[in-house]
Parts: sequence; structure tokens; C-alpha cells
Amino acid sequence: MSPQADDFKNYLNELSSLVEANLSKCFADLDVPAKLLDSMNYSLLAGGKRIRPVLCLSWAKMLGIKTDTVLDFACAIELIHTYSLMHDDLPSMDNDDLRRGKPTSHKVYGEAMAILAGDGLLTHAFYLMSGTNLLPEHVLAACREMAMASGPAGMVGGQIVDIMATGTSKMDLAVLQRMHAMKTGALIRSSCVSAALLAQSSSVGRSDIANAAGFGKSIGLAFQIVDDILDITGDEASLGKPVGSDQSQDKATYPRFIGLEKSMSLAQENTDQAIECLNQYSGRDKEFLKDLAQYIVDRIN
Ligand code: IPE
Ligand code: IPE
Ligand code: MG
Ligand code: MG
Ligand code: MG
Repeated sequence: MSPQADDFKNYLNELSSLVEANLSKCFADLDVPAKLLDSMNYSLLAGGKRIRPVLCLSWAKMLGIKTDTVLDFACAIELIHTYSLMHDDLPSMDNDDLRRGKPTSHKVYGEAMAILAGDGLLTHAFYLMSGTNLLPEHVLAACREMAMASGPAGMVGGQIVDIMATGTSKMDLAVLQRMHAMKTGALIRSSCVSAALLAQSSSVGRSDIANAAGFGKSIGLAFQIVDDILDITGDEASLGKPVGSDQSQDKATYPRFIGLEKSMSLAQENTDQAIECLNQYSGRDKEFLKDLAQYIVDRIN
């Protein structure tokens, strides 16, 4: 392995370990009904790549904020992401039985608990984010960004477009792109943008917010295209979720409409565009974000 690849792996490990440790205590000292707590932690602490909080931490650090200051905020994004997965797997949605290498929440705890545990994660995320110890107007702007990205004009909206597109035999590529940008891209983009909003200062401003948005938008689209590809080419053991789920449910995906090869080039094109948004930066976080963008295309899970 090249020294550069080594450095990427080590830094990814370093940041995701911080996230892991902080997630394991995000409900500490709260009076939560035991079964609900159990079910939230079951999904939240089941592993996962932690890409979204890691993106937030790395962008924040590149723009000059200490990791400790944004750790709760970054972890809150993982709570929102985990809730989206729990609901995505429900019988009325993708009806999947395996997630993060374990039976899905509704399989273990039942549907009512899986719905409410998801709601609990989503709500608690905003409690954590709003407690960030930075300028209140910056925290408010970052919270609004996360709300927009998670809600009807973001992830929730994209999930509905996904459900409504299921079973269609013809797909306008602009609609497919919009669906992916909303259901997956929005949360990834906002993981970067919220960091830039929190980092605003005399030397961090509009152009950084625009760079974070451009980077996040492009890797967000690449991320879901590769997710669609892995549903065909991946294996269950590495993915920790079923393969062939999209095909069995007649889902609208990139490989279905443009084929595997073109899908892969489109993902790489988006990654290249993302990397251009890092041009004006330097240092370890810039190199890390560059490698992370490429890892999104090269990953096997
Ligand atoms: C899976 O997300 C769902 C999508 C939005 C494509 P990840 O691939 O980030 O899943 P985890 O968090 O690593 O389990
Ligand atoms: C998920 O898309 C998007 C979400 C908002 C959770 P998929 O339905 O393709 O994600 P996986 O493949 O189940 O992880
Ligand atoms: Mg889905
Ligand atoms: Mg799914
Ligand atoms: Mg998928």
C-alpha cells in the first residue's frame, strides 16, 4: 500500500473512531424507555462507514474549527442518516431484512418500534446540533441547512420520488438525477455545507460555502450511483445488506437505465468534479477529502 493510501486509512480510522465513541454516549443520562433506547442503539451502533460525520469533521477542520467543537453536530448527522435507513428498510418501503450486517430494526423490534426509534433519532439529532458551542447565528444556519436537506425538499422528498418511480419502465434521466440528489445527495451535501456554515469567520465565507456545496453535491450523486452499482456487483457479506434488492423490487436505478459501465463513468466524472472544488485548499484535510471522494467510487461496501 502506498504511504498516501496508508495516511488516508489512518485518518479515516481516526475520525470514525471519534464518531463511534461519541455516538455510543449520545443518549447518556437521558430518561428514555429502555426498549426504545435499545432499538435506537441497535441500529446506530451496528457499524456503518460514518461517511457523513467524517465529511463534516474534515470540512470543519480544513476551515479552521476544532474537531471537539463540531463532534456532536457531526454525530447528529449520523443519527439522521440511521433513521433514514431504518425507515427505508420498512416493509412498506424497500422491505429489506438485513442492514449493517444485522437483521433490520423492524425484524427485531417490530414495525411500530422501528418507526418510533427512527423518529427518536431524527428528533434527538436536532437537540444535539442546536447545542453546538459556536456563534448562535452560525449554529442556526447550519441547523436550518440540515432540516432542509433531511426534509420534504431533501431526503424525505427523494424517498417519495423513489417510491413513485418504482416499477416505471421509462425514466427521464433528469428525474433520476433529481431523485438521487434528493434522497442521498442532500444529506451528503449538507454534511459539508453545515461545516462551512459553522466555520464562518473573517476568512471563511461565501466561496467556502459554495465549494463545500459543489463538492458535496457531486460526491453525493456519485455515492448513490455507486450504491446502485453495488446492489448488482457487490456481495452481501461486504455490503452488510442484501444484493439484488433493487432489481427484485423494480427500482429506478442508474445501471437499470444507462447500464453498469456508463454508470461507473458518470460516478467517476462526478468525483473528478468534486475534487476540483478543493483546488484552493491545502493540508491534510484537503488531501483526505480528495481521497475520500475517490474512495466513494472505489469502495466495495
Ligand atoms: C446507504 O448509506 C444508504 C444510502 C444513502 C445509499 P451508506 O452506504 O452510507 O450506509 P452505512 O451508513 O455505511 O451503513
Ligand atoms: C437509500 O437508497 C436512500 C435513503 C435515503 C436511505 P437505497 O434504498 O438504495 O439504500 P440502501 O441500498 O437500502 O442502503
Ligand atoms: Mg430505498
Ligand atoms: Mg433501500
Ligand atoms: Mg441501494
